[in-house]
Amino acid sequence: DGSTTHSEKQMEQQKYNGPYDNSKVPVLTIHSFIMGVFVSMGGFIFGYDTGQISGFLGMAEFQERFGQKNGNGDPGYHFSNVRSGLIVALLSVGTLMGALIAGPVADRIGRKWSISAWCVMLHIGLIVQISATEHKWYQIVVGRWIAGLGVGALSLLVPMYQSESAPRQIRGALISMYQLFITLGIFVANCINFGTEKKTSTASWRIPLGISFLWVLILGVGIIFFPESPRYDFRHGRVEEAKRTMTKLYGVSDNHRVVAQELAEIKEKHDEELLHKNQKWWEMFVAPRMAYRIVLGVSLQALQQLTGANYFFYYGTVIFKSTGINNSYVTQMILGGVNFGTTFIGLYVVEHFGRRKSLIFGAFWMFVCFMIFASVGHFALDLNTPTNTPHAGKALIVFACLFILGFATTWGPIIWTICAEMYPTRYRSNAMALSTASNWGWNFLLAFFTPFIVGDIDFQYGYIFAGCLFVAVTVVYFFVIEGQGRTLEEIDTMYILHVKPWESSKWVAPPPEELITTERLVRGEV
Ligand code: GLC
Repeated sequence: DGSTTHSEKQMEQQKYNGPYDNSKVPVLTIHSFIMGVFVSMGGFIFGYDTGQISGFLGMAEFQERFGQKNGNGDPGYHFSNVRSGLIVALLSVGTLMGALIAGPVADRIGRKWSISAWCVMLHIGLIVQISATEHKWYQIVVGRWIAGLGVGALSLLVPMYQSESAPRQIRGALISMYQLFITLGIFVANCINFGTEKKTSTASWRIPLGISFLWVLILGVGIIFFPESPRYDFRHGRVEEAKRTMTKLYGVSDNHRVVAQELAEIKEKHDEELLHKNQKWWEMFVAPRMAYRIVLGVSLQALQQLTGANYFFYYGTVIFKSTGINNSYVTQMILGGVNFGTTFIGLYVVEHFGRRKSLIFGAFWMFVCFMIFASVGHFALDLNTPTNTPHAGKALIVFACLFILGFATTWGPIIWTICAEMYPTRYRSNAMALSTASNWGWNFLLAFFTPFIVGDIDFQYGYIFAGCLFVAVTVVYFFVIEGQGRTLEEIDTMYILHVKPWESSKWVAPPPEELITTERLVRGEV
């Protein structure tokens, strides 16, 4: 069937490595650490763009320049629902498109040069926004769409470059670091907005945008000094370069067992891919239990957005301003800080309590927070004379923080983990592209429609999120298999064998050679 036999594999390894050096692999080398942290700048830029916009919408100068007159003799300005919806949401549209087209481009020009090229795209988007003059609000919209293309492409390429280059032992940790940098980006944007908000000139929003230019420049130029991903090099026939990069990143000699193992693994995957070259993308829908898993991944990402987290990250400043809170920018900074700080706890929670328990508990927690948040806003707050109800305003902040704590430790990071581990390797990239598209698609829908819904029902909007969270608990309980401490092959087998999700943590795995995996089924081996 064209696959390499065992002895061929051994010969192949000998060819690359000669006798093995069996000394221990350093878990973390200075090179791989710098590489991991540096490209995580991509996640930081993603978060920075998410966090920035909430502040802009509340800035007087930004409103006056791009908003509409209040009318009826009122000298102030506001944003219509359509306008604020478009300004916030077009970034997500660009991101969705960028994530879909970045893969094929990266296969042609390589990982590192793509990262650099998409940074140029992001710069164009930023220039379009910074140069927007009076009333040209659509220039902000178009600029955010162009920048979104870059953000979306980076959201695909950075984890790809990291997982293709990082030594196996720290691969998981590096991917979590990417998530951490997203939340750090949101937080830093909140802080910078707080610092410039009081300026009455265009500096109030141009400074935060200009600073964004700097982050992108650092990533776009800096990446040129890093090596290409060894997996990409290998596929393009540059075996020696691949080997050199690995020895440097892993901090070992070039005849080390780890280098040999990785090269053999890369070759095996490459051979397999050549074999599937003619595989059609729709074949994944008819593979064993894949339709179930695809629908599940798409639903989980939709539900992650429907928890309502971005309601706070995108519109927080506007929401809290309406309650009469003195400085809604401080509030936004607190929310961003809680999100960043508690994401660390999330990295521990997922491995300690498992996916199912964490998600169910997290959704229940957020359900309670939103019910209280919505009730306080609905019954205790008088929006017409907000200054009369400062206690209600404070209660809202407390429950928003508790909500974010629940999100950042559970649904924020864990959904990404589940979507990365529940599909078999053969279909992983396409299936993950679909679930990620669902995340950005719902991100867009919520960003765009939130101003309309809030305009109509104000805080009662929270009841809708609470309802979705109730659905989320049910979906996790009945459909998600526990992946904690399992190999990818075991997870695959559990889905194929219809192991009951609520009994999945007790499932006793057979030895590896008896697992019924998608790969074996498709090859007709079992
Ligand atoms: C998750 C969500 C994203 C949100 C972020 C906040 O990554 O997918 O939409 O902005 O968490 O931390």
